[in-house]
Amino acid sequence: MDMTIRPRRLRRGELLRTMVRETRMNPSSLIYPMFVKEGTNLADEIPTMPGQYRYSVDRVGEKLDALLDAGVRSVMLFGIPDHKDEVGSSAWDPDGIIQRALRKIKEDYREELYLITDVCMCEYTSHGHCGMLCGHEVDNDKTLELLSRTALSHVQAGADMVAPSDMMDGRVRAIRTTLDQNGYTMTPILSYAVKYASGFYGPFRDAAGSAPAFGDRKGYQMDYHNSREGIKEALLDVEEGADIVMVKPAMSYLDLVTKVKEAVKVPVAAYSVSGEYAMIKAGAALGYIEEEKIICETAVSAYRAGCDLYLTYYAPEIARFMREGRIG
Ligand code: PBG
Repeated sequence: MDMTIRPRRLRRGELLRTMVRETRMNPSSLIYPMFVKEGTNLADEIPTMPGQYRYSVDRVGEKLDALLDAGVRSVMLFGIPDHKDEVGSSAWDPDGIIQRALRKIKEDYREELYLITDVCMCEYTSHGHCGMLCGHEVDNDKTLELLSRTALSHVQAGADMVAPSDMMDGRVRAIRTTLDQNGYTMTPILSYAVKYASGFYGPFRDAAGSAPAFGDRKGYQMDYHNSREGIKEALLDVEEGADIVMVKPAMSYLDLVTKVKEAVKVPVAAYSVSGEYAMIKAGAALGYIEEEKIICETAVSAYRAGCDLYLTYYAPEIARFMREGRIG
């Protein structure tokens, strides 16, 4: 344990408040989303996400070491390939960006880190949609095969868990079947089950160059007027074999976190997405809000709503605040 971080000494009144807190959090429930890209010696700051970087494989270790020092042990990896085409073929290339990153991280960190990969086509397709197109529409069923192939290649390269984020119908079952047939029966699936068509993904799409070239994702992501649909999606994914279900974004969808938590018997994850991070950063840079206070409050509210796992670009900061006893 890093001895430089010590819990604050609490006065008695404060101690009582801490003793009776309802919401308890632990750094082991934090997952840090991270971008890896082609090239060497790169740590490119993402303009719309100050403080977040796209790393080339040879430099991912810088961030991973910092995460481990902070007490964060789990990452969600996103790949940014150089080559994009109509079907997103570099998504399942054994020498693709994610596959190479996985092999390198597994080699360097062995049992120290838990590696989750985002499984989707939008970073890999020239049109930026989350699946294979048929005309201007995504072809749900043809995409399932590509997603399964992609998930399998991630696991073969060292992923501990796969997280399909495409929102195609039936993809959890398709991926589960493929993994099982190839002997990966113990590899869990974290499903982006309740994923809304949201403006909060804007900075991520800048970072990954994955904005759709035409149209939008409303055909496969959910309408934010609806919550019952979210519960239905979560239940369906669990039935198809999801081990964990996610609600995304987090902040504007905490009602869904609570409702999904009541509806399912598996752990629930909440993802505080790029736009949520960008808003806090921008507000703080302008001096309109205090960054640390807002980080603590947004994190605690996600756990209070019921999430078991929390994905956030602020994971290292939150882990530190937990260890200092400021929250949790
Ligand atoms: C891939 C994917 C996206 C995010 C996670 N996985 C982008 C999208 O759906 O447009 C967004 C994450 C974030 O905004 O931080 N489909």
